[in-house]
Amino acid sequence: MPGWLKDAVFYEIYPQSFKDSNEDGIGDINGIIEKLDYIKDLGCNALWINPCYDSPFKDAGYDVRDYKKVAPRYGTNEDLYRLFGEAHNRGIKVLLDLVPGHTSEEHPWFLESKKAAENEFSHRYIWTNGAFCGIGGHPYISGECDRDGAYMLNFFKCQPALNYGWANPSEPWQKGVDDPACLATREALKDIMRFWLDRGCDGFRVDMADSLVKEDDEYKSNTVKIWQEIRKMMDADYPEAALVSEWCNPEQALKAGFHADFYLDHWGNGYNSLIRDYETGGEDNSFFKCGGKGDIKRFLAEYLPRYEATKEDGYISFITCNHDSPRAKRTLTDKELKLAYAFFFTMPGVPFLYYGDEIGMRYLDIPTKEGGYQRTGSRTPMQWKRGRNLGFSDGYESVLYLPVDSAPDAPTVEDAMKDENSLYHTVKELIALRHREEELQADADFQVVYAEERKFPFVYRRGNLTVAVNPSPETVTVEAPCGKEVLFKIGEVSIDSGKITMGAQSFFITK
Ligand code: NOJ
Repeated sequence: MPGWLKDAVFYEIYPQSFKDSNEDGIGDINGIIEKLDYIKDLGCNALWINPCYDSPFKDAGYDVRDYKKVAPRYGTNEDLYRLFGEAHNRGIKVLLDLVPGHTSEEHPWFLESKKAAENEFSHRYIWTNGAFCGIGGHPYISGECDRDGAYMLNFFKCQPALNYGWANPSEPWQKGVDDPACLATREALKDIMRFWLDRGCDGFRVDMADSLVKEDDEYKSNTVKIWQEIRKMMDADYPEAALVSEWCNPEQALKAGFHADFYLDHWGNGYNSLIRDYETGGEDNSFFKCGGKGDIKRFLAEYLPRYEATKEDGYISFITCNHDSPRAKRTLTDKELKLAYAFFFTMPGVPFLYYGDEIGMRYLDIPTKEGGYQRTGSRTPMQWKRGRNLGFSDGYESVLYLPVDSAPDAPTVEDAMKDENSLYHTVKELIALRHREEELQADADFQVVYAEERKFPFVYRRGNLTVAVNPSPETVTVEAPCGKEVLFKIGEVSIDSGKITMGAQSFFITK
């Protein structure tokens, strides 16, 4: 386990939308470099950058055409190497996004693979042995090329599935996981990883990490084995590099060798019950919605077994949001967000802050871009300051990759910095506190102290610290052990010999 993860607070950058340095309307690597001091000052000491490789951008770069080349719209490989160096100079680690399950349909491997004549890449992807032979239960395409076969998709139509084999081949065209063609795919993946790690990258966020081997096995044992093998390579040659999975099943992902696994808005883990529980029944029952019918037990029922089962193996990563989900600001006020973030940044595991969430950027209702669909509204340009394109780009508005928030009160970094009560300052303080107090960090002990159905507050311990949150509009009291020194608080809180009184929408940490 790389030691630095213990105290890591990540900042996710969607490169298209962070900072445009050359007026072409799209963010770029040099723009990120310009803003490293901002990220450092905020307190984040690690970055995750969404795919920045050459791509036709039918899925915003998750359709990779060349894994070893920075997309010209973001700059050059040299720019990215410089970013690694500049980040390291400031004590910031950089994770790239690794997309192991599929490539773009324009990747040279696929262009070879779809040829009728057998060649080195014929089995780099999953093909049936006839254009009229489909793949039961899986999405596939046929009739698009000279090769007489259908190929499997891993996500969108533009993303053919790479071939890591089948756990239990039942058709002649299904290769076993140890077939030379599947082993070659595995080696190709390692080669890509080594390429970036050798040039200064500090690890990867791994896209759809559970999607490698085609298997019905609910434990995904074969995919797990492949990652375990990769982890061995990392431990031997890159022991300080980190692997964070998009698996959303920490029990499996951490056994597979990932250091951390994201806790996403997937069904069955209670994450949405915290900040985004408005999809059913027309009411907002999120725990952090003031006056809603939120219930922390719904989250804990799912989270606690996962935490208990995995706490020795690695970390669960809470996110404020990501490029695939609606920003929490869609339904929560800044006051509600302060409490939600206070919770995320004081939980065990490695937290991730999505760019712009620190100033409460909105979710915008805008047309799709590059396969974003409803995700597009969370991917708009970072709002730096008043004036042209809110400081994102000096280019013409008409060339912007996505529109900036045009609301007169659109939050900006500049305004947020000036307002000492802003969400930004709360985030900054919380991150600083997490760095100072080891007991708030990734692997310090976590215990629930008070959590009752439909009741407030929620109280927990991190080591010897007591943390409590009351998102409700009522003043509440509870008896709980807590120290005298208040390290941080939001709202009105008083503590009198073990009796805690918390005003509406409040939070505290005591030592
Ligand atoms: C998950 C990524 O986060 C998402 O943006 C992408 O579209 C899919 N994987 C496919 O790569």
